[in-house]
Amino acid sequence: MTDPQAIWKELTLLEKPTLAALFEDQARVDEWSRALDLPGGTIRFDWSKTHLDDAHGEAFAKLAGAMDFAEKRRALFAGEIVNQTEDRAAEHTAERGHGDDEAVALADALHMRMRGLVEAIHGGAFGEVRHLIHVGIGGSALGPALALDALARDDAKVDVHVVSNVDGNALKAAFAACDPETTMLAVASKTFTTIETMTNAQSTLDWMLEGGIADPEGRVVALTANPGKAVDWGVDETRILPFSETVGGRYSLWSSIGFPVAIALGWEGFAAMLDGAGAMDAHFRESEGLANLPLRAAFADLYYTHLRGCQTRAVFAYDERLALLPDYLQQLEMESNGKSVTVNGEPVHGPTAPITWGGTGTDAQHAVFQLLHQGTHLVPVDFIAAIEPGHDLDPAHHEILLMNCFAQGAALMAGKKSEDGARNYPGDRPSATILCDALNPATLGVLIAFHEHRTFANAVLLGINPFDQFGVELGKQLARAMEEDEGEFDASTQALLNAAGLG
Ligand code: F6P
Repeated sequence: MTDPQAIWKELTLLEKPTLAALFEDQARVDEWSRALDLPGGTIRFDWSKTHLDDAHGEAFAKLAGAMDFAEKRRALFAGEIVNQTEDRAAEHTAERGHGDDEAVALADALHMRMRGLVEAIHGGAFGEVRHLIHVGIGGSALGPALALDALARDDAKVDVHVVSNVDGNALKAAFAACDPETTMLAVASKTFTTIETMTNAQSTLDWMLEGGIADPEGRVVALTANPGKAVDWGVDETRILPFSETVGGRYSLWSSIGFPVAIALGWEGFAAMLDGAGAMDAHFRESEGLANLPLRAAFADLYYTHLRGCQTRAVFAYDERLALLPDYLQQLEMESNGKSVTVNGEPVHGPTAPITWGGTGTDAQHAVFQLLHQGTHLVPVDFIAAIEPGHDLDPAHHEILLMNCFAQGAALMAGKKSEDGARNYPGDRPSATILCDALNPATLGVLIAFHEHRTFANAVLLGINPFDQFGVELGKQLARAMEEDEGEFDASTQALLNAAGLG
């Protein structure tokens, strides 16, 4: 059978056993969870508390065949055009050594250039550098912010401030923490045209000048796929770190956009992150069917959106260091797969990306878990935790944290019957758990690459292009028209402009 719609039909007709029924099978946990030994330690991916069973697994594997998953994965790694609307490849994996030879060689050469500048800064070529203000937004900020928050809490070689919002309050907070004398500026923008970033970059130069720095331009590093624009803006060619146009913004942490991570951790730390991501690339490239963990996760994602009507999925990191992971995944998943048309421009047949949301445990337990346990929405949840604590306080902290994480998954699944409706927990609510030995640069690389490939696998099974993002353009165009005092707006918008003195 090769008609995907017929397979979807078959999927809708399959029996939907409860989690309790699935757990009657003694082999359930062994079959549906898997530990991978990877650089950085072992990571367990436990999908046993989802409703996938063998019949669903087989049907989804058939769907993957019908959607040409293996061929599309090959095309991704071969550097062929997989982003049809923009007529280009998506070569983020080449940054981790997995791609066609030319793309890998280019990525290696650009990494060496980046390493040279990172080591020159650490070696004192720019005098004492204690702070780096990194301005960028979206994919040019979320990855660095996540990695720095996760990995550079103690012993950072340089104190990095990632500023994304054009709201001046964000930049002012960074200025308050930095001294212009010992600060460098990284301007991160794939296009080098994004208004928020360029506005923040200019204000940082002004702040340096006002702070007595005679040549602030001499302390700027540009991270971009558009080096010509950076030159026009006044950045010296020696401080421009280019990356390939074929690396998408939300997939760009591995390129020179990761410069602040290398500045904070040192080159070895950044390289370890690349290694971890590369190990997940190898797993995704070489494993088939349910043994392929990102593909298995995509099967579960589609099961819940298509067969159980779930409109959201939640991610809770039981680790303060991963507090920014839900934000990062929101862009990765929603900007990639929040689409309504297929690769051929035809309307899609069902829901595409669910809304990704989440937070950190245990805080979230005291805020939003009520709805997860007893609300009317079914929300598949991912829990992410590390066995090793990231601090040296009383081990009780970490034991309480982990036990709460595991207790939530158990409670969602088991529920608890009560005659009193307000005290009744229906249970049978799904979760998946990713449990790392330790959180370190390599593990973080694995975790992010796992989600990149899960996102790609979802897109292939849905028949959509995860690498464009035209949906963000219209709002930008209208803002530009307002700035240039052009265009006509609806009465409500015009009244708001007038009220703000901008009409
Ligand atoms: O507005 C969306 C977007 O294009 C993202 O995809 C991208 O990561 C972000 O803006 C920033 O773009 P740039 O890196 O070109 O400044």
